Amino acid sequence: MYFIANWKMFGKLSTLISLNKVIKFLKNFKKSNITKIIYCPPSTLIRPMSKMIINSKIQVGAQNCHESPTYGASTGSINPEMLKNVGAKYVILGHSENRGSGETDKLINAKIKSATKSGLKVIFCIGETLSQKRKKITKKILSKQIALGLKKVKKRKNIVIAYEPVWSIGTGVIPKLDELFGTINFIKKKVRNIKVLYGGSVNPKNINELKLIKNIDGFLIGGASQDPKKFIDIIKKTYN
Ligand code: PGA
Repeated sequence: MYFIANWKMFGKLSTLISLNKVIKFLKNFKKSNITKIIYCPPSTLIRPMSKMIINSKIQVGAQNCHESPTYGASTGSINPEMLKNVGAKYVILGHSENRGSGETDKLINAKIKSATKSGLKVIFCIGETLSQKRKKITKKILSKQIALGLKKVKKRKNIVIAYEPVWSIGTGVIPKLDELFGTINFIKKKVRNIKVLYGGSVNPKNINELKLIKNIDGFLIGGASQDPKKFIDIIKKTYN
């Protein structure tokens, strides 16, 4: 099972202390050999976090990257090589918050290619908006995002998909369990041999329901991942 913490635009150097609780918890955690824990802090914290998690079960990832494999005149951007250089092993791509500010499927595809080529593993986010759900075109949207996002991507073993319905991100609302089971199944049939995670308002309460969905390979956790207690709680309850 994957547990991925997406800190979004939160966190200072002093916030990193909170990680010690999780490191300590993982030391004695019986299921740690079947658990992958990935923290995606803002880029400013990738390096110091990487130093903290040496000898722990935690890996570090970035929240986005530029599509260029080389250096270039692109103010404010960071390419995959640069992220790797400071300790990132993963990168989140296609997050709806970035799609919402103009990232197209084509751009996401270029980023996925560039990231996998440089050896980063990719957490590829897909998901429908509320209006698309109401129009009952979820499957069509997901199919398109998958087809265009993974177009001509060869190294698929380094990709996991996070299904994140946009209407459930940060809202406290999660999909109906049977619906979610069906959607995850649908995605798995499309991509075969790629792990599929769920993301959107995962918290220590609803994890008791979410864990019942047997085809989910893990969770992408935003808000609740900023609180080490909640994050640990989610991990523990998943296996209970
Ligand atoms: P949330 O965010 O858990 O706060 O809903 C999830 C995400 O955006 O990855």
